[in-house]
Amino acid sequence: MARSYDIAVIPGDGTGPEVIREGKKVLSALADKFGFKLNFIDYDLGGERYLRTGETLPDSVLEELKKVSAIYLGAIGHPDVKPGILERGILLRLRFELDQYINLRPVKLYPGVWTPLKDKGPEDIDFVVVRENTEGLYCGAGGFLRKGTKDEVAIQESINTRKGVERCIRYAFDYTRKRNKKKKLTLCGKTNVLTYAFDLWERVFHEVGREYPDVQRDYAHVDATCMWMVKNPEWFDVIVTDNMFGDIITDLGAIIQGGMGIAAGGNINPEGVSMFEPIGGSAPKYTGKNVINPLAAICAGGMMLEWLGEEEASQCLEKAVMKVTAEKLKSLSAGKMGYSTSEVGDLVVEYIRELC
Ligand code: IPM
Ligand code: MN
Repeated sequence: MARSYDIAVIPGDGTGPEVIREGKKVLSALADKFGFKLNFIDYDLGGERYLRTGETLPDSVLEELKKVSAIYLGAIGHPDVKPGILERGILLRLRFELDQYINLRPVKLYPGVWTPLKDKGPEDIDFVVVRENTEGLYCGAGGFLRKGTKDEVAIQESINTRKGVERCIRYAFDYTRKRNKKKKLTLCGKTNVLTYAFDLWERVFHEVGREYPDVQRDYAHVDATCMWMVKNPEWFDVIVTDNMFGDIITDLGAIIQGGMGIAAGGNINPEGVSMFEPIGGSAPKYTGKNVINPLAAICAGGMMLEWLGEEEASQCLEKAVMKVTAEKLKSLSAGKMGYSTSEVGDLVVEYIRELC
């Protein structure tokens, strides 16, 4: 029987629907070519629905999402909704409820893509960030005291559990081994100041690391990591870090790989339902103009295929994307690509047919 996958699609807000449309186009072409079936099930979640009904992520939808093979997400964020409501109510709630404890973010410069780093090319910029995705400062632990008075106190706590840290670090070691490049895993922390949280991270890193003698262990403080990412990105193979630091360094990672037009990520639950997304936002000012770059969404689709076990199809997708960046696009920025959103999707499909 043909391999078949149920994919929940959440196009979301702003340019999300446009880039997801192109992603589905590419994924469908791959499904035809490689002989598997994708059943797309669309979910209307996001700012528009919230403004219409007051709902972010209804429990009934969450229950359905627990049963699919994977989730393909466009973008969440709406200019008329107060910051935090959709992020916490949809995106973070999905990550937490589905226990997607890894946020996997490859930083890879494709041929032909401009990087702000002088004298660095595709051979220098090729690493992966493994970001813890369910703990740390993102838990929402804390609160106010005497709110609104001049004696106000705001507390936001970073939660780091042995279990949460260990499963993330173990995933990172496994990933580094499987990736089989430099076989080097860098723990990015702040052991000189955050002497409780990163003491735990560091102990677990070395303890688990002893089970992986083939993987070199490396450590860098988060501030230094930012510096090295700019100065010597070729030093990195895989970086593992907590939720907040991972959020910050992956925006830096995105810009050195060419920007939000290309950066993709996966929210992974190795034992459950994972969710794949372009990591840029909803880009409201470009909405509906057919000028946004769909490659990040397309690459997120590629990560999803790899996750589903369709590795050949995923490699084919990447090859096609690389040909598009190398030979066609003038820039990765919205409106400056020299092609429309749908034309970029068409090019990827054309190269899939030609190359694989
Ligand atoms: C990301 C985003 C989210 C995060 C926001 C939108 C909540 O910045 O996926 O990196 O902070 O994780
Ligand atoms: Mn972010």
